[in-house]
Amino acid sequence: MGRAKSIAVVGATGAVGLEMMETLEKRNFPVSSIKLLASARSAGKKLKFKGEEITVEELTKDSFKGIDIALFSAGGSTSEAYAKFCVDSGAVMIDNSSAFRMLDTVPLVIPEINAEDALKHQGIIANPNCTTAIMAVAVYPLHKAKKVKRLVAATYQAASGGGAKAMQELIDQSRAVLEGRSIEVKVMAQRIAFNLFPHIDVFKENGYTKEEMKMVWETRKIMHAPDMRISCTSVRVPVLRAHSESLNMEFENEITPEEARAIISSSPGVELCDNPAEKVYPMPINATHKYDVLVGRIRQDISRDDKRGLEMFVSGDQLLKGAALNAVQIAEILNR
Ligand code: A2P
Repeated sequence: MGRAKSIAVVGATGAVGLEMMETLEKRNFPVSSIKLLASARSAGKKLKFKGEEITVEELTKDSFKGIDIALFSAGGSTSEAYAKFCVDSGAVMIDNSSAFRMLDTVPLVIPEINAEDALKHQGIIANPNCTTAIMAVAVYPLHKAKKVKRLVAATYQAASGGGAKAMQELIDQSRAVLEGRSIEVKVMAQRIAFNLFPHIDVFKENGYTKEEMKMVWETRKIMHAPDMRISCTSVRVPVLRAHSESLNMEFENEITPEEARAIISSSPGVELCDNPAEKVYPMPINATHKYDVLVGRIRQDISRDDKRGLEMFVSGDQLLKGAALNAVQIAEILNR
């Protein structure tokens, strides 16, 4: 392991930022010093890291002096505004926003898939979209073995994807409904309590949302599979923090559910969770706080005459594999 690093967490007071600190601590990442950065609103607030109280500072262009690695999760506009100051000061930026993900000069990395890409960085490494990370870590081992030609996904995305305020909105709205009070929609596109809606991020000209297109663009880049055909419908559901996805895959080669289960069982970042007779299958409440993505309901696609199709269901913690854990795993690659 390399020498201890000075770390900055940008967006430390947010849902992902807090998980980044906890993940650094839990995985024993060698931290020589940590700087917690957020907006002026949070300056002076105290947060704990390894039992020590650390004062949150306002993010400024001078925040990165002496920093080795900066973990950013404060939205795309903050990443865009501060990337230059971060990189110019010599820090490596690991960015959770979508701002730089598709630039040729920026590696987009899921350590279980393309760790080696991280080492080709020019100052910025991008962390993928949460649904993409959760899907890709489960699909990649099957792709490596039997080559996925086409993937159709439907997602069931938790409120955490919209940040701490969206999580609070789900709680507040649910309470309001149960107490017979009127509901306020402030953060998310629609009411989320006792509802769901197929609208995450903005709509594009082709009728898909940007969230759905991220799944297409990012998966191809991460897996180095420019020809993989992908379609996705992204849905926000009233779940607090773990995303689930229903995945239909068409393979170049035949694959049975038994083979797929054996591959998943021996692959990193995933846990086979597939015993329907015992009511064992992935669910967001079981994936919450877990590093591994749960994979189950694996079955042959009965809409086909051959054995080239599989269906499966996955659940993964949006704040961990979908964000903070993946970012810390990238930092670990830099520190090898
Ligand atoms: P703050 O708490 O001061 O608003 P979430 O995704 O959970 O909503 O969190 C977003 C994170 O990004 C928070 O830590 C938030 O800080 C931070 N943030 C938002 N806008 C800025 C900004 N302009 N400069 C620095 N940090 C920001």
